[in-house]
Amino acid sequence: MLDHSERERLTNLLKDFMGAKRHDHSVKVATACVRLAQLHAPQLEDQAEIAGLLHDNAKKMPVPDQLAIARERGLPVSPEEENSPELLHGKVGALLLKRRFGIDDPEVEQAVCDHVTGRPGMGLLSKLLYVADYTSADRSFPGVEEVREISRQDLDAAVFAVASGKLRSIIERGLMIESNTVALYNEYREHARRLLREERIDG
Ligand SMILES: [Fe+2]
Ligand SMILES: [Fe+2]
Repeated sequence: MLDHSERERLTNLLKDFMGAKRHDHSVKVATACVRLAQLHAPQLEDQAEIAGLLHDNAKKMPVPDQLAIARERGLPVSPEEENSPELLHGKVGALLLKRRFGIDDPEVEQAVCDHVTGRPGMGLLSKLLYVADYTSADRSFPGVEEVREISRQDLDAAVFAVASGKLRSIIERGLMIESNTVALYNEYREHARRLLREERIDG
């Protein structure tokens, strides 16, 4: 766990960039991310807490400003992101970690960048945040408890469950599918199916 003064510094700074509800979400994602790290990657506990706290720091920024930052920094913007610019807040938030919070950690940056759509080949910290953002205590959609249970048993199976859930929701709402989410789903599909066949997890 982060020391008390660093946690205070980050949680206070974060209030400048979001309202109370999103702040509460960020603190709960940090808690979920630390719990997952304790189970699956104890060496990443501090980074998990920072990534959880800061992952949505750009969410409230107006979309034109996000697009301007992305262009200014030479960030590739996919057709899906052009169509649904709210997808951009992870990538843009990652770019702002140093300026806004003095956090200069490439792994945290990558995890924040990955948290919205996921990506094939994600590292451990990205996987922890991707799952924590979907299963934090403030989430209450049908099926979330099942994903929480899977996340305690097998992180990769949980990544698959999150990608599946996000894809279902995107299709139900008629939104455009970001290709990284599809590639992530395909990457973990066999792993999750094998675990289900072996009944090592309750799915
Ligand atoms: Fe987000
Ligand atoms: Fe979030």
